Amino acid sequence: MASKTSFSSKITLTTIAILLIFPCSSSTPTVPPNTANSRPPHFSKMYAFGDSYTDTGNTKSNLPYGMTFFHHPSNRLSDGRLVIDFVAETLSLPYLPPYLDQKNHNTTHGVNFAVSGATAIDHDFYVKNNITLAGFTPQSIKNELVWFSNFMEINGCGGRNRKMLSDKCRALTDDALFWVGQIGANDYLYALGSSVSSATVQDLSVKSVTGVLQALLKMGAKYIVVQGLPMTGCLSLTLTIAPTNDRDEFGCVASSNKQSYSHNLLLQSVLQDLRKQYPHAVISYADHWNAYRAIMKNQQGYGFKESFKACCGSNIGPYNFEAFAFCGSPRASQPCPNPSQFMIWDGVHLTESMYKAVADLFLHRGYLNPSFDALLRSKMSVD
Ligand SMILES: *[C@@H]1O[C@H](CO)[C@@H](O)[C@H](O)[C@H]1NC(C)=O
Ligand SMILES: *[C@@H]1O[C@H](CO)[C@@H](O)[C@H](O)[C@H]1NC(C)=O
Repeated sequence: MASKTSFSSKITLTTIAILLIFPCSSSTPTVPPNTANSRPPHFSKMYAFGDSYTDTGNTKSNLPYGMTFFHHPSNRLSDGRLVIDFVAETLSLPYLPPYLDQKNHNTTHGVNFAVSGATAIDHDFYVKNNITLAGFTPQSIKNELVWFSNFMEINGCGGRNRKMLSDKCRALTDDALFWVGQIGANDYLYALGSSVSSATVQDLSVKSVTGVLQALLKMGAKYIVVQGLPMTGCLSLTLTIAPTNDRDEFGCVASSNKQSYSHNLLLQSVLQDLRKQYPHAVISYADHWNAYRAIMKNQQGYGFKESFKACCGSNIGPYNFEAFAFCGSPRASQPCPNPSQFMIWDGVHLTESMYKAVADLFLHRGYLNPSFDALLRSKMSVD
């Protein structure tokens, strides 16, 4: 069991280090002007939910985060834009302002409730199971739903009004694309090495996401995209902590990729049920796992030279990843000069070019089901 012990403690330390880097700088998040094409917007607003893969400023970051596109810390955990930013550009909408900084922004075109470190399962569950780590992000997707309710209330759609689906509520939801980014990857990570099995994590996290989706639908959401988990086994973090004989055909961690794949199957069956319960809503599944796989299979086509190594890290080991020299921390080394050739940015999060490739597969190449065009068409048919 010695190897199991060191495996778990390594995970714990890594988790702590990752969580610690989140609240480091205090720069003011800004929303750059939208430079996208001038196609008329089909959706007038977006609301986003999820974890660090979707967070555009509910947590802070410092350089070199943001170095590629924004050229300043943009409070996104990447060198540049995230999938949600490319979706905003495609819809000719401004980048989504973070909920926690809404007073400094115009929220007419939507708000981002996603927050780095967020779990699918409530924080209480982890506390009860003695999984309490220094710096643990206490937010779950249910907290994000509470934030959304608060936002609705501030904008004249609270309590009784909401039940009646008043005009104010309709104005907030009818024209909106709800983007539920990936959520649940942190849950599996936090539960590793604890007494909580991954089967339990899967069951509880999909239940939690289902509850949130039902609440959004009841509150008037009509167009929802739900992103599954990516191939979590291909991240430098996972490759670093898993035994070297746990690998699949891509050289990624087989058990982790299986786990996220199986999580996605359950999620998709839930979406199928919700489509039957809410036939007037369009609920689209974003196949993050297979999008990641498609890029893994055609790395050269995308101009990638490194699939496993982090661009920004420690200069240690085969993956340029070490928990105590995490990107952005004082012990990290200089980031690679060519992030667009790397799929992975800091060992846990992806580079802008990877997010761009994933967004392109979602929006234009059949990795949304129903497709993005079908979503737009059903939106336009009611205009
Ligand atoms: C927010 O933006 C909308 C549309 O772009 C505009 O009509 C509105 O006046 C703005 N609100 C404020 C408070 O600036
Ligand atoms: C959590 O820790 C407390 C105190 O050590 C112990 O009594 C309790 O049984 C633990 N709970 C679980 C779920 O492991």
